[in-house]
Amino acid sequence: MKQNRRDFLKHAATIATVVAVPAFTGCTTEEEESGPEINMEWEDRATALEATTWTADNPGVKPEVHLPETTYNADARTMTVSVPHVMEAGHYITTIYIRDQDGIVLGLKEYETPSVDGDPPSVDISLHESTTAIVAYAYCNLHDNWAGGSIST
Ligand SMILES: [Fe+2]
Repeated sequence: MKQNRRDFLKHAATIATVVAVPAFTGCTTEEEESGPEINMEWEDRATALEATTWTADNPGVKPEVHLPETTYNADARTMTVSVPHVMEAGHYITTIYIRDQDGIVLGLKEYETPSVDGDPPSVDISLHESTTAIVAYAYCNLHDNWAGGSIST
């Protein structure tokens, strides 16, 4: 199939746009002025996982290994989210993500199983300058979704 210059430029622009989108975190100048960019893939995935969401006040099975733990790193404006859960074939955390005070997903990470080193999952997620609070979530393939408490930033 012959490709003319216009088609090539159109295709190249699409690729450049995809490459330019932050893969996990980060903000552009435009985002800083208007709030975080909404990633519809993350939003759809998080919404799908939230069909059953447990909390510390309404816990499902073994909250001590499912509730996400958070550490706010003020200097870096990041939130470290970890879950003290096994990462074994057949039982593992599939997804960790956070929502900001407006419910926007700021970052979402999927995990394969088993993990290479066997360590519990942990991820650093960058916050937007407009972020004032977050809630962290972790999804277990056997024990549903879990929401931590709201953390001010
Ligand atoms: Fe589990």
